[in-house]
Amino acid sequence: MPHKYYKDNREFIKALKKSGDLVTVKQEVDWDMEMGAIVRRVCEKQAPSPYFKKIKDYPGFEAFGAPLATYRKLAISLGLPPETPIPQIAQVYLDRTDRGTPHKPVLVDRSRAPCKENVITGDAVNLFDLPAPMVHEGDGGRYLSTWHMIVAKDPDDGAINWGMYRQMVFDERTMVGPVLPFSDMGKMFWNKAVPRNEPMPFATVIGMDPLAGIAACAPAQIPEDEFCGMLMGEGVEMVKCELSDLYVPAHAEIIIEGDILPNIALDEAPFGEYTGYRTSPREPRTVYRVRAITHRNRPIVPVSCMGVPTDEGQLLRSFSLGLEMDKLLRSQGIPITGVYMWPESTHHLVVIGTRNAYAGIASQIAQLIFGSKLGPWFHMAVVVDQDTDIYDKDKVIHALSTKCHPVDGIHVYKNSAGTPLNPFAPMSERKIGKGSKVLFDCLTPLDWKKSDIPILVSFDKVYPEDIKKKVLDNWTNYGFKD
Ligand SMILES: Cc1cc2nc3c(=O)[nH]c(=O)nc-3n(C[C@H](O)[C@H](O)[C@H](O)COP(=O)(O)O)c2cc1C
Repeated sequence: MPHKYYKDNREFIKALKKSGDLVTVKQEVDWDMEMGAIVRRVCEKQAPSPYFKKIKDYPGFEAFGAPLATYRKLAISLGLPPETPIPQIAQVYLDRTDRGTPHKPVLVDRSRAPCKENVITGDAVNLFDLPAPMVHEGDGGRYLSTWHMIVAKDPDDGAINWGMYRQMVFDERTMVGPVLPFSDMGKMFWNKAVPRNEPMPFATVIGMDPLAGIAACAPAQIPEDEFCGMLMGEGVEMVKCELSDLYVPAHAEIIIEGDILPNIALDEAPFGEYTGYRTSPREPRTVYRVRAITHRNRPIVPVSCMGVPTDEGQLLRSFSLGLEMDKLLRSQGIPITGVYMWPESTHHLVVIGTRNAYAGIASQIAQLIFGSKLGPWFHMAVVVDQDTDIYDKDKVIHALSTKCHPVDGIHVYKNSAGTPLNPFAPMSERKIGKGSKVLFDCLTPLDWKKSDIPILVSFDKVYPEDIKKKVLDNWTNYGFKD
């Protein structure tokens, strides 16, 4: 049975308006930093999404900022009430993507695909006709693709990948951006297309529906088009590209088609990044040659403005990285009670709750997650017992500061895979994306005598049930509000 979901950004915008999570900005805004600055402030204040009706120099285009930068918006995108607590949102995601059925896309004819309302090919193609924002001061150029997905196909087995890889407009028909070698598209491009010197067809989808955005940003273990179908509970409607046999979501706003060129690089960046810093220097990066653009009438361009928390990249990558680790650890039979990454950690720190079932379990957990496909994206793991609420920062900080031995509880794993964007890493490590990892083991050693284990002194743990009940029943009678 299909779940409640929004088949395009326009339906999602209406839902956000209804729930009070959208502000319609009628006055004209400038694509040159003004839009970016508004979206940045919205992220920092966790304010409603701005829906820009009028963009300077671009009549006929609209924009939509911070599309998924709060848990309220994430809940809405999944068809849940906006105030749904985070653990419940996580459970819905796990139920759909772990226990649900993958759904193959439903292929539709171009007459039923709004993204084909305007088709531009040949000499008419000009990326400057689209309102790419200058997102931050100091960026190396205008970034058209800030909340988007790139569709590509494995040259050997035809496996489909959707992923978010930023793209800066270089000239009328060229975009450029980093494709990290451990990402799924990176593996197709660097391990196959480049050695064979073969261009790799791509389609950049701008303004896809929110669940397609979540799927593209997730480190999914299956092709993201089918993963998106799991989130929807039915196949996503897709239409064939103009120039290749790739398929794109039929209800998206703008599609940019072309080839990713092997063995050539052009300068890209700097850019304000998800860590909240401008970290990577201007350097030669991957080149996208554009040969066609199709778009809906009056297209709406999503604008994500990365920086200090919380933007949608931080929120959704933390959410899905944590839950993919949850699936991985459970698939190995580890008795975990949950996994969570706070978006404020810019998906660098993960908290894992587990039963303290046997000696070395924290190390086993750390080695599994650091060594997995997800490993390059984070470097700190905090393992706590099942009594610590992993969603409660205060409780985790208490456990970390009282239960992690400064020598025996901290384990460093050197020379692992990392990203070139770690602000703490020296340039020599950033250049090659080398990382190190650290585990904070907050579990009580199992060889301690029971009488040696310090007792947690909390209302819940140290009072008899009858006293707790009496106090709770009389709480307002004592004069407290709640
Ligand atoms: C807004 C945003 C921008 C991103 N930009 C890049 C990028 O420029 N290059 C890159 O390799 N990964 C980037 N990522 C991470 C990839 O999107 C991520 O690796 C991929 O979508 C999912 O992983 P997988 O396909 O490798 O499993 C970005 C993620 C987000 C949310």
